[in-house]
Amino acid sequence: MTKLDIDFCGVKFANPLVLASGVLGVTAGSLARVVDLGAGGVTTKSLWRAPHPGHKNPVMFGTEHYFMNAVGLSDAGLEKGIETLTELKERTDAPLIANIVAGSIEDFGAIAESVDILQPDIIEINISCPNVESELGKPFACSCQDAAAVTKVVRAQTKLPIAVKLSPNVENIVAVGKAVVDAGADALTAINTVGPGMRWNIDLRTPLLANKVGGISGPAIFPITVKAVYDLHAALPDTPIIATGGINSGRDALEVMMAGGTLVGVGTALYYHGDGFWEKTKQEMSDWLDQNNFKNLSDIIGLFHKT
Ligand SMILES: Cc1cc2nc3c(=O)[nH]c(=O)nc-3n(C[C@H](O)[C@H](O)[C@H](O)COP(=O)(O)O)c2cc1C
Repeated sequence: MTKLDIDFCGVKFANPLVLASGVLGVTAGSLARVVDLGAGGVTTKSLWRAPHPGHKNPVMFGTEHYFMNAVGLSDAGLEKGIETLTELKERTDAPLIANIVAGSIEDFGAIAESVDILQPDIIEINISCPNVESELGKPFACSCQDAAAVTKVVRAQTKLPIAVKLSPNVENIVAVGKAVVDAGADALTAINTVGPGMRWNIDLRTPLLANKVGGISGPAIFPITVKAVYDLHAALPDTPIIATGGINSGRDALEVMMAGGTLVGVGTALYYHGDGFWEKTKQEMSDWLDQNNFKNLSDIIGLFHKT
């Protein structure tokens, strides 16, 4: 059986599958449980400095092909975030990715400084949530200048590896990727949810989300993820990517790694497949590698670019 361990920015992962930010992993207990179920690492939900209420219910619904959410980045704030990260580090040795968010460039520096003290393995910067525009304006990920400015202030506060989470909802994701790498990012996460989109109930004439609009995740966005990862890897071959968005099987995970991903973020698939997803997906990946005579998982990264 081919082993699935992989190095990402000098951090060792037992396998490349990591829990994506905001999905299931809200408490230290739920994040540790995801590791017990077979994830190679976990990402916290976006941590704010101050408590952040998020949007009113309903904030999420699912269909056969996609989910939509407008959670609105709800979070209890830094005090609780510190508690969660501290407890999690005691409960598991698996790599921990702390995802941070802020409404201003300066606040990104402040939250990064506080989170750095807790020494997660990686800091992921969320500048790309598409469902908080009414409150925060256009995401920083929509402008190369803003995205680079956020990266710079976070870089100044930490020596930990930084992954910047990019938005697919831009004209040129590669330009934004290059801007944040030039500003000091070590890695990229591609992608956050797509949209915003909108759905209504035709009988009640009410929107399905109280916020009316929300980000789209799950299998329907997978082709957008593959293209984003492919284009980013072509332009920035030395920058590792956490490929995220619609990965729903072992074959999907292998495909997105061949497009250029090093780690594979998994979120919505857990709503479709439940707790068994991690082991089943690892087995599928390992079987495929065995059958195709690959000795090391890292040999498949970026393979599509070599054909
Ligand atoms: C319910 C829900 C909550 C999310 N919350 C966050 C969040 O707090 N921070 C963040 O960076 N991304 C958040 N995301 C985006 C996911 O991390 C991921 O980028 C996106 O869902 C695409 O992956 P998937 O199709 O595997 O779910 C959230 C997604 C969902 C479905």
